[in-house]
Amino acid sequence: MEKIKRYLDLTLPESYSTFLWGARKTGKSTYLRQKFPDSLYVDLLKTDIFQKYVNQPFLLREEILAASKETLDKPIILDEVQKIPQLLDEVHWMMENIEDSQIYPLWVEHSKTQAKWF
Ligand SMILES: Nc1ncnc2c1ncn2[C@@H]1O[C@H](COP(=O)(O)OP(=O)(O)O)[C@@H](O)[C@H]1O
Ligand SMILES: [Mg+2]
Repeated sequence: MEKIKRYLDLTLPESYSTFLWGARKTGKSTYLRQKFPDSLYVDLLKTDIFQKYVNQPFLLREEILAASKETLDKPIILDEVQKIPQLLDEVHWMMENIEDSQIYPLWVEHSKTQAKWF
């Protein structure tokens, strides 16, 4: 399979967070896994991971607060975050309260209506 070269360079200044939006199958997950291979990566497409956080979204905060400095020094990636909107409240809290944290929630755009939710 031919590998398409990406021109995106998602390297933000320290403590910045960002959303990566895009239509399905445009390579968002692949890009971030390659760019940040050692990051904490929460893949909400996995049903066990989804069930864990949909029932107890606060676990994300507790786990990140307990994470090593090495982990917190890298971007934290929340793939398919739109599946659990409550996680965005936790993200909001962490952005305001965890010094230098970088959180990259991935938003999959299904439709214009859903995108307006933000
Ligand atoms: N740079 C690339 N070149 C070619 N194929 C790619 C590239 N990045 C991703 N793909 C392929 O495209 C498909 C969708 O990628 P994925 O990362 O799952 O997209 P998304 O997360 O945006 O839904 C996968 O089969 C993946 O292997
Ligand atoms: Mg994906």
